[in-house]
Amino acid sequence: MTQPSDKALVPFVSVDNMMALVNATGIEAMLRDLAGYIEEDFKRWPEFDKTPRVASHSADGVIELMPTADADKYGFKYVNGHPKNIRDGFQTVTAFGVLSSVANGYPLLVTEMTVLTALRTAATSALVGSYLAPKGAKVMAMIGNGAQCEFQALAFKAICGIDTVRLYDIDPAATEKAVRNLAKSGLTVIPCRSGEEAIEGAQIITTCTADKQYATILTDNMVGSGVHINAIGGDCPGKTELHRDILLRSDIFVEYPPQTRIEGEIQQLDDTHPVTELWQVMRNEAAGRRDPRQITLFDSVGFAIEDFSALRFIHDRIRGTAFFDHLDMLADPDDPRDLVGMVNRAA
Ligand SMILES: NC(=O)c1ccc[n+]([C@@H]2O[C@H](COP(=O)([O-])OP(=O)(O)OC[C@H]3O[C@@H](n4cnc5c(N)ncnc54)[C@H](O)[C@@H]3O)[C@@H](O)[C@H]2O)c1
Repeated sequence: MTQPSDKALVPFVSVDNMMALVNATGIEAMLRDLAGYIEEDFKRWPEFDKTPRVASHSADGVIELMPTADADKYGFKYVNGHPKNIRDGFQTVTAFGVLSSVANGYPLLVTEMTVLTALRTAATSALVGSYLAPKGAKVMAMIGNGAQCEFQALAFKAICGIDTVRLYDIDPAATEKAVRNLAKSGLTVIPCRSGEEAIEGAQIITTCTADKQYATILTDNMVGSGVHINAIGGDCPGKTELHRDILLRSDIFVEYPPQTRIEGEIQQLDDTHPVTELWQVMRNEAAGRRDPRQITLFDSVGFAIEDFSALRFIHDRIRGTAFFDHLDMLADPDDPRDLVGMVNRAA
């Protein structure tokens, strides 16, 4: 059997290697470094091709493709969201992604993105929190203690300097898992019996639940002035977490309005309701938090540029390391037009 040429091989980061990379780097260092890449890309937002993600909905979930490109590289992520999955022992969200050269279209990287999505979502949330959360915020409520939960807690510790998380989930087993996983994090971790209890004294409220419906994780009377809400779980048509009245009292910050108006909390509002684009806040072209009593809301849905940043980060990070394999993925005939000859010679 002939060996594949260099042109045939694409660096591939398996789940095993992603975990090894995270453990060698440390989760908090990884979240900080990744947030740096995301911030760089938000600050050059106009350079990217942008489109709302392409979503294929079914009764139980959604499968999405999330593409974007700058002049040099193209990236996409395949990701699903199936809240019922955990009942059958499958994850709600799994993902993989590809980074390619714009110049010749050849893939430069194929990687798992289930772990990477949790990292990039948390890094984005905390990066946004560093612009919008009240100064000196130390306590975060975390409602929804599933797969994303601990990543969010660690990112807000590493990037925003929180020291306490107050956890609540309708399933106490999820909260117990998060308490266990955060035991050595240096955070004070407080399990709570209700959403109301979780938000007591919190300056940051993260909602991170999974339910394929208009849910009301936070009602209007639960949210006092001066907090920052990081709403992660409302990210599909018909899937939201906040009561509409909260939105009307908040200054709302979004990634990419054409996608967020379809998928985010703001699908509950009319299409002209004012929102601020985060890239403009990061470039100092729009105001972030203006006063300590204001409620700021990051209506997070997850945008392709965050995945592009994550792919770019991993591509840079694995260079010269053993944290990847070579995937024989691209046909490379001796004569580029003799594809069938290559197949025949392999017989
Ligand atoms: N915005 C983004 O960029 C982004 C990225 C990834 C995932 N998400 C979304 O974040 C959410 C969480 O993802 P995950 O992977 O952690 O899911 P998960 O299924 O692992 O965890 C969700 C948790 O929410 C809990 N929950 C459900 N309803 C609740 C309620 N009413 N009150 C309290 N807890 C409740 C469940 O018991 C579960 O433990 C999902 O909706 C997912 O689609 C968003």
